[in-house]
Amino acid sequence: MSKFTHHLFICNKCKPSKKFRDGKTHDSGKLRSALKKEIKRLGLKAEVRANDSGCLDMCDDGQIVVIYPQAIWYGGVAVEDAERIIRETVLEGNVLEDLRIPDERLRCGKRAKSAKVEPNGSN
Ligand code: FES
Repeated sequence: MSKFTHHLFICNKCKPSKKFRDGKTHDSGKLRSALKKEIKRLGLKAEVRANDSGCLDMCDDGQIVVIYPQAIWYGGVAVEDAERIIRETVLEGNVLEDLRIPDERLRCGKRAKSAKVEPNGSN
């Protein structure tokens, strides 16, 4: 079995705040459908997958999409961004700077670091 080259996770719990009222459609279900449609249209179904996820712990950044194994985090993503995410990021390997969440803002691993586990498994 081969691996996916890109696995996109779309948070289905995001409720974009007022700061994302930009006239675009911020709807996780429609976004996932648009991403899947573009993946299918470009014949990428064998290599690229788009799945719903629960909260990705970046709730202040609007609609979240994370792409693995590249670990590219996008925030404030609208349905209108689906085509260029697939075309520019997945196919061409370019990060969309207007959507990218800077690494220093990511909370990945910060909780794990604060919950120190002793070598014997207790904490
Ligand atoms: S609700 Fe979407 S990242 Fe938390």
